[in-house]
Amino acid sequence: MRAVIEVEALRKSYGKVRALEGVDLTVPEGTVLGLLGPNGAGKTTIVRILTTLLEPDSGRATVAGLDVVDDARALRGVIGLAGQFAAVDETLTGRENLVLVGRLYHLDRAESRRRAEEVLARFDLLDAADRRVAGYSGGMRRRLDLGASLVGRPRVLFLDEPTSGLDPRSRIGLWELIGQLVKDGTTLLLTTQYLEEADRLADSIAVIDNGRVIAQGTAGELKARVGGERLDVMVAPASDVMAGAAALAPMAGGDLHVDPAEGRISLALPGGPPTVAEAVRRLDAAGVAIADLSVHRPTLDDVFLALTGRVSEDVG
Ligand SMILES: Nc1ncnc2c1ncn2[C@@H]1O[C@H](COP(=O)(O)OP(=O)(O)O)[C@@H](O)[C@H]1O
Ligand SMILES: [Mg+2]
Repeated sequence: MRAVIEVEALRKSYGKVRALEGVDLTVPEGTVLGLLGPNGAGKTTIVRILTTLLEPDSGRATVAGLDVVDDARALRGVIGLAGQFAAVDETLTGRENLVLVGRLYHLDRAESRRRAEEVLARFDLLDAADRRVAGYSGGMRRRLDLGASLVGRPRVLFLDEPTSGLDPRSRIGLWELIGQLVKDGTTLLLTTQYLEEADRLADSIAVIDNGRVIAQGTAGELKARVGGERLDVMVAPASDVMAGAAALAPMAGGDLHVDPAEGRISLALPGGPPTVAEAVRRLDAAGVAIADLSVHRPTLDDVFLALTGRVSEDVG
């Protein structure tokens, strides 16, 4: 597959702060790259360079074959960007904002209106279209901002922390919308602090820390590096914890710990959450009663711990 985004040895400092210390990335056409990292990792700096808002100190980057420095003007015409903070105008209505963006892309009035209408419908904003953005909820602003980034029908889309600060319901709604865009073939680079978000949306994830890519792979590959999901079982006081451990051992891939005093069994779940039912059946068949049971998914903290040997400071 052809690479639509290519980044080589990118460096950028802000005064004494070294934000990027040599970043390499490749994003094949029609795929989604998730840049995953804590606050201050350098994610926004990468996005700002790739969208021509900031020049690198050294290194090279191209988007759709266009150089971010030499071809900056042409490049702006093929990309869309929704930044970390919504860039819509509060004093205008949702519709006015979208039409304005169309005009900035040099579309004529009729075409701008047509596309605004399309975006409003797609992002469930028709009812709110003629209200001022000042009265919109956080979720509505993000939807409008995302919509605005699509008015120019970009080939390549950049979303910088598209769901940070949203409540879980709005977050899931936005994931569905982004998922649809990707199905339409848009190449997407998105940054996030949430492993779950990268997991859900990205084909490939680059973990960024202190201005460097410290790991890259699919969500499954990264999870495997941190040990994947685990199941914790507390057996009921009257039950035989060793019998429970014996029943679960075949599905743990050799990774099972028993704490007989506590009545606790902890095991790897190589098949993920769907295999929880199998664990319950096995315990039931062995006559072991369950007092409590929980699945732990790896978090960004776990990934960081596994990759760097330290806990990331700013993940909230
Ligand atoms: N305009 C700026 N001036 C000085 N330092 C900055 C500026 N923007 C970002 N930084 C610093 O650069 C590093 C990377 O920041 P950023 O790219 O915003 O990270 P992220 O988006 O992953 O949170 C951080 O240490 C941040 O404090
Ligand atoms: Mg940022």
